[in-house]
Amino acid sequence: MSSDDATALRGQVVTFIDDPFVVSPTDAMQFWSDGVVVMRSGIIEAVGAADDVLPAWPGIQVERFADDLILPGFADCHVHYPQLGVIASYGARLFHWLNTYTFPEELKFSDPQYASTIAERFLDELARNGTTSACVYATVHTTSVSALFEAAEARGIRIATGKMMMDRNAPPGLTDTVQSSYDESIALARMWHGRGRLTYAVSPRFAPTSTAEQLEAAGAVWDAYPDALLQTHMSEQTDELKTVADLFPNARDYLDVYASAGLVRPGANFGHAIHLTDRERDALRDAGAGVSHCPTSNLFLGSGLFDLAGLRTDTDTVPVGLGTDVGGGTSFSMLATMQDAYKIAQLRGISLHPICAFYLATVGSAAVMCMTDKVGSLEPGREADLIVLDPNATPVLAERCGRAETISDVLFALMILGDDRVVRRTVSAGKTLYARDTTA
Ligand code: GUN
Ligand code: ZN
Repeated sequence: MSSDDATALRGQVVTFIDDPFVVSPTDAMQFWSDGVVVMRSGIIEAVGAADDVLPAWPGIQVERFADDLILPGFADCHVHYPQLGVIASYGARLFHWLNTYTFPEELKFSDPQYASTIAERFLDELARNGTTSACVYATVHTTSVSALFEAAEARGIRIATGKMMMDRNAPPGLTDTVQSSYDESIALARMWHGRGRLTYAVSPRFAPTSTAEQLEAAGAVWDAYPDALLQTHMSEQTDELKTVADLFPNARDYLDVYASAGLVRPGANFGHAIHLTDRERDALRDAGAGVSHCPTSNLFLGSGLFDLAGLRTDTDTVPVGLGTDVGGGTSFSMLATMQDAYKIAQLRGISLHPICAFYLATVGSAAVMCMTDKVGSLEPGREADLIVLDPNATPVLAERCGRAETISDVLFALMILGDDRVVRRTVSAGKTLYARDTTA
């Protein structure tokens, strides 16, 4: 094999070959203590034990990370880039938090310059945290969408986003109409969908801020771009459920509001989905629609305890990914997000296995974004999105990881004690997006 322009990273390589919620976690993971990932032109060419792989690549440039872990880049399947500045806003539950902090901040995104500045800062944060793909909310303003797509295209990062659709229950300046939301969404999808690594995500915010007619318009946009994604919020807080029942008296339940508009199908990404009925859970599974679990947000806003076990059993395999949900969420770190997922599962009587947690943060989120053929695992033919994590990043981590006897236990220590400090390198489509030791 020609080694021209191929490069390799060598270290402890971890990836996924199966679903750890279906087979045993250790059978779902592949681990090479001295592994290597070979990349060329942004694509993974080979993965495996260094001694097996490297002889086929004579003269290849290899960068070695002795104690570090090389993993698939994280995928954050639910995050709001315009909320970067309102992260950690005190003392409110969902509706109050939206009205007091979020909506006033989102109003600023009619200014393209402001939107570009925050989009760049947002993408810097993703890179510093090892997140190489994300499904992102913008605001109602088309400028906010273009700003993020432009910035993501320049960096070559895999991003799905789209214009928020909101035609009621929001301040003037943050609302659109059925027609304008349709027209603007179509124009943005035409411009950006499928361009390089960019995907359009049809984005009605949630049922309380959209009329039934606007949700239907969202369905029509999706019909026009069937391989685009759809993102919205659902069943996050109990007050919200009451509001939805009042606004849509004929709907069987919350999911039915979206189903009536044709929004429940593969590629749909429902954020939160905490307070589901059995019927909703079954309908999600039957439709192949996905769910974003956003644990730091659910704790911060006091939303409730997500029922992971109810959605991800060996028979009920609803696609579930992990979202930071900044700024309702309190960290851009997918490690910190896994930590809170673990704690929520504990409160539900289940100990989330570290391999399951890392799977949710990589393949799980990629599945919600219908991108497992492109990202989420390290396999020949996949895009070369990967991260290098340093188990000695802090004194406590070094102490704790030094005592770990299995790779699962190292992963567990990383998810409980780790955050952005652990990320040594972030590689997107073969290019270094972030290098801790030169950038810091
Ligand atoms: N529900 C509707 N909009 C939002 C939002 O911006 N954040 C969260 N956490 N929930 C929502
Ligand atoms: Zn959200």
